[in-house]
Amino acid sequence: MTPSDYEFLRKLLKTRSGLDLSPDKQYLVESRLVPLARRAGLPGITELVQKIKSGADALTAETVEAMTTNETFFFRDKLPFDHLREALLPALLPARANRRLLRIWCAASSTGQEPYSIAMCLKEFGAALAGWRIEILATDLSQGVLEKSKAGIFSQFEVQRGLPIQMLVKYFTQTGELWQLNADIRAMVQHRQLNLLQDFSHLGTFDLIFCRNVLIYFDQDTKADIFARLAKVLEADGALALGAAESVVGISDAFKPYPDRRGLYRPNAARTAPVAGAMSPPKTVAAATR
Ligand SMILES: C[S@@+](CC[C@H](N)C(=O)[O-])C[C@H]1O[C@@H](n2cnc3c(N)ncnc32)[C@H](O)[C@@H]1O
Repeated sequence: MTPSDYEFLRKLLKTRSGLDLSPDKQYLVESRLVPLARRAGLPGITELVQKIKSGADALTAETVEAMTTNETFFFRDKLPFDHLREALLPALLPARANRRLLRIWCAASSTGQEPYSIAMCLKEFGAALAGWRIEILATDLSQGVLEKSKAGIFSQFEVQRGLPIQMLVKYFTQTGELWQLNADIRAMVQHRQLNLLQDFSHLGTFDLIFCRNVLIYFDQDTKADIFARLAKVLEADGALALGAAESVVGISDAFKPYPDRRGLYRPNAARTAPVAGAMSPPKTVAAATR
């Protein structure tokens, strides 16, 4: 890979996915893109770059996907799910008792462990949510991870990471060496491809947004822009959950930290007003995402 190939790819990735690569990450690009080039029948990255420049759209999308980091596991960091059980749902259930609808967005959902962890937490509320409509929207830039998420099939290694054994027994069925999430949990999660760099106001408003371990890859301006737009689609009494290494502090005043709940943020009322009449998603969103 020549220095100009690397510069071209850095710019491409920044524009297409937000990934902000420092000048010293050539090894990362090579380790991810040399195998992709070979699969495409190309000798190396220089030829891959030439193809992209000549307008090979599918290869460009594959290049962007190959550079995403999809690391995830069930109940990652534990704390956000404790917050969900102990504070967020106990506050939201009485607040939404009239409309009996909860909308939760998992905004970089990878292979599904995060949205399905949320779904299992909700399922544990049992009778308290009987008759409620629960919408958990799982979105990601990468179509590949969404396909795996939709299938809800996980390896022994994957279910051993973070998932309590009682939940494995209760919500999964073993088929050979794999474990499939039961249909009732899978049905709680809708999937849709979505790039956070693009407009997402058409999704409607949400009671909770999990946007975890994705913004770390973006620069400050991109984070600030996404925070501003996330605040507009979050209900005034809703909450945003970020990853353990992420924060709004010093980046955006669209959110303020949730009192006594590390990693949780609420919209800054002084900055944002809920979008009137946008409580429910357009009908086509729910239909298109199943
Ligand atoms: C490290 S995973 C985090 C998964 C999960 N949220 C968690 O915390 O375990 C980051 C995910 O963000 C996705 N991603 C990267 N850039 C994105 C973008 N611009 N828009 C939407 N998703 C993106 C990647 O495809 C990847 O699946």
